[in-house]
Amino acid sequence: MVAGGQVNYMLDLEKLRQETPGCATRLHFNNAGCALSPIPVIEAVDTHLRLEQQVGGYEAAAIVTEQTENFYAACARLLHCSPQEIAYVENSTRAWDYALHAIPFKPGEQILTGAMEYGSNYLELMHFAKRRELELIVIDSDANGHIDVAQLQERLTPRTRLIALTHVASHRGDIQPAAEVGRIARNAGVLFLLDACQSIGQLPIDVETIGCDLLCASGRKYLRGPRGTAFLYVAEHCLTQLDPVFVDLQAASWDSAQGYTLRPDARRFECFERSVAGQLGLGTAVEYALTLGLDAIAARIHELTVFLTERLLALGDITLGERSDCRSGIITFEKRGESAVLLQQRLQTQGMNTSIARSSNARLDWGQTPTTERLRASVHYYNSEEEAERFVTAVSGR
Ligand SMILES: Cc1ncc(COP(=O)(O)O)c(C=O)c1O
Repeated sequence: MVAGGQVNYMLDLEKLRQETPGCATRLHFNNAGCALSPIPVIEAVDTHLRLEQQVGGYEAAAIVTEQTENFYAACARLLHCSPQEIAYVENSTRAWDYALHAIPFKPGEQILTGAMEYGSNYLELMHFAKRRELELIVIDSDANGHIDVAQLQERLTPRTRLIALTHVASHRGDIQPAAEVGRIARNAGVLFLLDACQSIGQLPIDVETIGCDLLCASGRKYLRGPRGTAFLYVAEHCLTQLDPVFVDLQAASWDSAQGYTLRPDARRFECFERSVAGQLGLGTAVEYALTLGLDAIAARIHELTVFLTERLLALGDITLGERSDCRSGIITFEKRGESAVLLQQRLQTQGMNTSIARSSNARLDWGQTPTTERLRASVHYYNSEEEAERFVTAVSGR
């Protein structure tokens, strides 16, 4: 199965591009890094920053309480969960950390993860496992670059407490079989933490279907929200099993000199201080994606991914990093005779944004191969076939 499948969709590319000011001057294939925001998102942020300067920051926040509440409702519609299960967090790395650290592990318990785990997550897993005397086990990938679910099943023991999986890696576009992992986790009664940073906003995500208990998502990538925004999903059924590491006046009420009560919802993982403009911008971005429809978005991204990949491969000197047919909008590749770093610089001088996937960020998956860098071209629904053609011509250097 290929992401996107055979869905009929009606995205008006011309309108989408008009609503994306960055399209006028750049060819932006760095959506996995940070996508270009559409006008409604830019306006939501800008309007609130101006309001803060006109009436004062706290006073401005009071004026927009309804819109801030809408943020939770929009994220809940995106994930098919309840607004009480959403927390606004400053970035996804911290959202993931808050979830991990809240699990009351006992020494000797196990965490299972895959070889595609995001680099910062895996660094923290190593650090955390060392400090808390936990066993960290990496499940191998199969020939498709997917977590080997049979091995995952075999490696479960009564000491397994958590499965942590990155849905789409930063350095490789293959989509991991999250729902299969979720089924294994549910059957075993093990917590499942999904890093959906690269999949949120480009694939439909239903936390019930996937079966994850915890999920972190970034605002600035495929959701097209502002930088410095993210959210955490905490399933209601596991809220009371978790013990937040940090508690402030947002996360709890201070009831008496020595007494406090944690908030009854996922916002016990939030801090009081935040970018309200960022939160409104991200809420607007989520609503924008919901209005277009996640099936339509996935289908369009898939169409463009196939279009671009086929043309790149037709050049004859390109090797793809992706291994499966189940792929996202992230395309990584090497070009014979030109390093990824030089290629990226050459493309940049022609107004084309890409990024680089590095083995130093993906040691589990890619630590042993001689290749140390691949170019990462990540497409979004607002990119066009004309841009893809121009990009391929530029890559060819002919
Ligand atoms: C798969 C994945 N997880 C987590 C992150 C970290 O997200 P943030 O930069 O919002 O902390 C990234 C960022 O590139 C990512 O690609």
